[in-house]
Amino acid sequence: MPCQKQLKCFPAASERVFVFMDERVSSAEYQITTRSVDETRKLGETIGAVVTAGTVLALYGDLGSGKTSFVQGLGRGLGVPDDYYITSPSYTLINEYPGRYLLFHIDLYRIANPVDIEDIGLYEILEEDGVVAVEWAEKMGKHLPSNHVKLQFEIIDDKTRKINIIPRGDEVMEDLRRWNLAKEMM
Ligand SMILES: Nc1ncnc2c1ncn2[C@@H]1O[C@H](COP(=O)(O)OP(=O)(O)OP(=O)(O)O)[C@@H](O)[C@H]1O
Ligand SMILES: [Mg+2]
Repeated sequence: MPCQKQLKCFPAASERVFVFMDERVSSAEYQITTRSVDETRKLGETIGAVVTAGTVLALYGDLGSGKTSFVQGLGRGLGVPDDYYITSPSYTLINEYPGRYLLFHIDLYRIANPVDIEDIGLYEILEEDGVVAVEWAEKMGKHLPSNHVKLQFEIIDDKTRKINIIPRGDEVMEDLRRWNLAKEMM
């Protein structure tokens, strides 16, 4: 039974206190509504500031639902220098950015066959001390590590996106708690 509560999202890397009025779906699952692209970036930044090396973020959602915008914020929270503009990797499938940890941004939209994933060096990447964000993660198939954080993006209207954050795997459950992403409001 979901415990519908209003939650506060703390921006570890920002001066501005940012409040997401949302509900915690279970003890480790969050549902967050953003009402602008900047809010989605801010959510990414909040997570980027606390995420640890080795975390895989599996991003799902329709075209234009905000996955890349989220990764832009993630990069900011990870300390990727401002002169890197994070955009979807097209020909290479993977872009790599320097930060507190390396950020690997993968976009599998154009991949035709999950078998090709072996060719993109995914396993080497997972060995690195980095953070991995994968758009169109459903195309990872069996290659998706069992420990990952699922982020499901949903378009509500022009400016509104609903983002479900769901830990997958025991290690990630703990991580998500440490993120302190949300806290019950007083
Ligand atoms: N609340 C919101 N959060 C994120 N993006 C929003 C929001 N409201 C409007 N937008 C707009 O939606 C678009 C999101 O684009 P973005 O590239 O992040 O999506 P995407 O999920 O990566 O798409 P694709 O699957 O094509 O890569 C942008 O044009 C952005 O301005
Ligand atoms: Mg994208």
